[in-house]
Amino acid sequence: MDYHLLGLILSFLFNGTKVLAGYPIWWSLALGQQYSSLGSQPILCGSIPGLVPKQLRFCRNYIEIMPSVAEGVKLGIQECQHQFRGRRWNCTTIDDSLAIFGPVLDKATRESAFVHAIASAGVAFAVTRSCAEGTSTICGCDSHHKGPPGEGWKWGGCSEDADFGVLVSREFADARENRPDARSAMNRHNNEAGRTTILDHMHLKCKCHGLSGSCEVKTCWWAQPDFRAIGDYLKDKYDSASEMVVEKHRESRGWVETLRAKYALFKPPTERDLVYYENSPNFCEPNPETGSFGTRDRTCNVTSHGIDGCDLLCCGRGHNTRTEKRKEKCHCIFHWCCYVSCQECIRVYDVHTCK
Ligand SMILES: *[C@@H]1O[C@H](CO)[C@@H](O)[C@H](O)[C@H]1NC(C)=O
Ligand SMILES: *[C@@H]1O[C@H](CO)[C@@H](O)[C@H](O)[C@H]1NC(C)=O
Repeated sequence: MDYHLLGLILSFLFNGTKVLAGYPIWWSLALGQQYSSLGSQPILCGSIPGLVPKQLRFCRNYIEIMPSVAEGVKLGIQECQHQFRGRRWNCTTIDDSLAIFGPVLDKATRESAFVHAIASAGVAFAVTRSCAEGTSTICGCDSHHKGPPGEGWKWGGCSEDADFGVLVSREFADARENRPDARSAMNRHNNEAGRTTILDHMHLKCKCHGLSGSCEVKTCWWAQPDFRAIGDYLKDKYDSASEMVVEKHRESRGWVETLRAKYALFKPPTERDLVYYENSPNFCEPNPETGSFGTRDRTCNVTSHGIDGCDLLCCGRGHNTRTEKRKEKCHCIFHWCCYVSCQECIRVYDVHTCK
């Protein structure tokens, strides 16, 4: 089948999502208040926008874990906003749109790479955590331990089963990434890189039991890291992301696009690296086409020489300075025993914003 025809068929199949955005519309789950776990209305799979048939089936079969899937995307986006808080593009989401990032992630940029990685990591993380907390009947703790965790130690408590969370993330988040085009290949790679980060950061937690703090019995279990550690790690991977070029191959099923490292002199990307093949806009000026909001009125750091500093964040346009009064706790006194009382003071701060 020739590529053009395939493209037509694919764009027909994915029409609902394609006209809206080049990235998953179901990420809008993260902003829907109704999907957050516990005490809310049940999730209606048919009403989640942008699900492909495989995801719809998954949703119906495993409805119990859908709140954690939504929670995971939310976690990923919150972490993205933390990691990018001082940057020109700061991971802003648009509440009243299904394409929650606007057109910014339509291009195959580093930013897209990061968001895909952190969102699929978030799904794996949240599903794993909620399974360990016993919120679902189809999953739980990991009991496939081989041998004791250390000499004289025992397995105890609930080991988090990250393999299960990763599996769910792979099934669900990658379900729409089966096109033979370069963007699909990029998304698959970055999604997997995000999930691998979770597996790589699993660590043993141990606790001593015994009289007065002695360690007669030590029990251990596998635990996921703080999600912040995942965010920090993936942010480093964003900074060192590998630029790729698109190659077309003719295979029996038609034209297939794959990615190859652009610079042969650099170490080729591993499964843990993020990859991209389009350059980012500079995000300095507002541009509805690229989805850039520009940096006007953004708060900048006047003492920093980094990207959050006024020079770089304001793209050389300069900045305004105003003073702001903030109420703070002060003159705190510790009272025996045990409380602290404070007074309220007004402190004056300089606030710098981009012109
Ligand atoms: C992120 O950028 C948007 C658009 O410039 C701005 O409105 C928002 O306040 C910024 N958020 C943070 C946390 O700086
Ligand atoms: C501003 O930048 C300086 C130098 O990098 C840093 O020490 C300081 O914490 C920053 N301030 C804020 C509010 O981020």
